[in-house]
Amino acid sequence: MTRPYVILNAAMTLDGKIATIAGDSRISCEADLDRVHKLRASVDAVMVGVGTVLADNPSLTVRRARGKSPTRVVIDSFAKTPLDAKVLDNSAPTVIASTKNASKRRLQKLCATGAKIIVAGEKEVNLHRLLEKLRSAGVRKLLLEGGSTLNWSMLNKGLVDEVRVAVAPRIVGGTTAKTLVGGAGFGEVRRGVGLELKKVTKVGKNLLLTYQVKGGKGAKKAG
Ligand SMILES: NC(=O)c1ccc[n+]([C@@H]2O[C@H](COP(=O)([O-])OP(=O)(O)OC[C@H]3O[C@@H](n4cnc5c(N)ncnc54)[C@H](OP(=O)(O)O)[C@@H]3O)[C@@H](O)[C@H]2O)c1
Repeated sequence: MTRPYVILNAAMTLDGKIATIAGDSRISCEADLDRVHKLRASVDAVMVGVGTVLADNPSLTVRRARGKSPTRVVIDSFAKTPLDAKVLDNSAPTVIASTKNASKRRLQKLCATGAKIIVAGEKEVNLHRLLEKLRSAGVRKLLLEGGSTLNWSMLNKGLVDEVRVAVAPRIVGGTTAKTLVGGAGFGEVRRGVGLELKKVTKVGKNLLLTYQVKGGKGAKKAG
């Protein structure tokens, strides 16, 4: 096994937005938040893009369930994670995944907070390489918690095995509001990432959809 098993989890509105035009991303209901914290407690690492750190300042720890907080991994090419970001507190280990182009001084400052620095890539973080490094460091199961840009990169590179989306009974609109998956996108539907619906459950007010990515690691197991 060269990389961890990857679960992409997100909460979105019925119109596919993961945040509003104003950046409000509080989409999950209480029951769904409980589910996400349980899920975090079941993985070795939780990963987000620096865009999410800058927008939401999440702590990414387990607070609403029993269990240990996973290692937090921030995808941050230029070491922009603020030094007072909650992901850098001492409640769980943190990895800043950065590039050769990040300022050395900035990386040293991040390192001084106790974070581990992994350099993978030049212009942007090389996700294949990073996942291999995380696997060698013992990460078997990784939870991808967004945002839109990182979700695209991970799906486009074939690095996601499972998708769990909590659909909230809300429609917020907004052309510029972030959707579940951003990035360059595919020109043809047939080139899009194929999914197989495995489970539909109601979690509080939300509908939880669980998919296996076709050709992903869990695909055989899923039949
Ligand atoms: N509802 C939900 O479940 C949920 C969950 C998470 C986030 N969100 C929302 O999503 C929004 C943030 O999404 P976002 O698209 O702006 O940011 P993002 O996906 O969190 O972070 C993207 C950034 O990561 C860095 N990066 C480095 N290497 C990369 C690579 N190989 N592929 C992709 N990104 C790479 C890039 O910044 P650098 O070039 O500076 O490194 C890139 O701009 C926020 O509004 C947040 O509230 C919602």
